[in-house]
Amino acid sequence: MGLAGEAEIRGETSRMETIHTVEWMKQVTRQARAEGRLVGLVPTMGALHQGHLSLVRAAQQQCKPVVVSIFVNPQQFGPNEDFSKYPRRLEADSALLEGLRVEYLFAPPPAEIYPDGFRTYVNVEGVSERLEGRSRPGHFRGVTTVVLKLFEIAQPHFAYFGRKDAQQARIIRQMARDLNLDTEIVVCPMARESDGLAMSSRNAYLKDDERRAAIVLYRALDAARQEIAAGERDAVRLLAVMRKVLNAEPLATPDYVEIVDADTFEPVSRLRRSCLALLAVFLGSTRLLDNMLVEEVEGAGSSFRVSL
Ligand code: PAJ
Repeated sequence: MGLAGEAEIRGETSRMETIHTVEWMKQVTRQARAEGRLVGLVPTMGALHQGHLSLVRAAQQQCKPVVVSIFVNPQQFGPNEDFSKYPRRLEADSALLEGLRVEYLFAPPPAEIYPDGFRTYVNVEGVSERLEGRSRPGHFRGVTTVVLKLFEIAQPHFAYFGRKDAQQARIIRQMARDLNLDTEIVVCPMARESDGLAMSSRNAYLKDDERRAAIVLYRALDAARQEIAAGERDAVRLLAVMRKVLNAEPLATPDYVEIVDADTFEPVSRLRRSCLALLAVFLGSTRLLDNMLVEEVEGAGSSFRVSL
């Protein structure tokens, strides 16, 4: 083992290694840790886009080796969801990661992760039951279970998640704290298309007219941002502004629109400390998420910094 690692230490370039088994992934990262190296993990379900790659770059700033996992996790899809049609593009993904000089791609087959007789699940109570959790029962249980397994397998010092899935990141951070995990959770900014649409593997499902209409999520958040800049602090009025923008788009059907405390994920009536405006909207049968972080700037009266 450690051939790729040793070649690097000698200053030679090495190709990315694709790993399919849990056993070998464990060995490789345990060896890297034993050599005193910082292991970074970027968990994904593949169909990689610039949002994913921004996480990889963030990982490369801090860690070497970086492991990117690609695993379409059946446990986080509901029975009527898109598991079977979820885009699978291992070859193209692999080329992208190779181009970024990622050290390891972990791409296990489903039976490696869920062998026959699998019975153990991890559930973060409370925050998992709201918003995405309410619309997609069992979803977060599937996410936390697979992420804990990936952490055990890859033993990362740091693991990278996107604010695109803000509730997921919050839940994983809670799991890491509650279970005393040795992995530090890093949450990275949102990557958007040039027109503002949040990048997502599911954008590939959108028909042309739906793709054009999909910027309504960004426009709704941007309208709220402008109101906040003009001094609005009342959550009910900000929600009304967002709903009005969404309702003006006939192809969009909102699932939820909420403003919550970024820590508890409970709804707020006024902006305070750190809040998230969160949207889930259907365009046809495709469900898209977006959000905006609104943080109080300390010592600046009631001034808020907005990250879209
Ligand atoms: P996936 O949807 O592939 O996303 C992998 C990671 O990329 C997540 O942390 C997600 O928040 C981040 N990401 C997606 N779009 C982004 C964007 N536009 N900007 C920045 N980051 C973005 O999330 C999952 O997979 C799964 O639930 C997983 C954590 C891998 C567990 O199965």
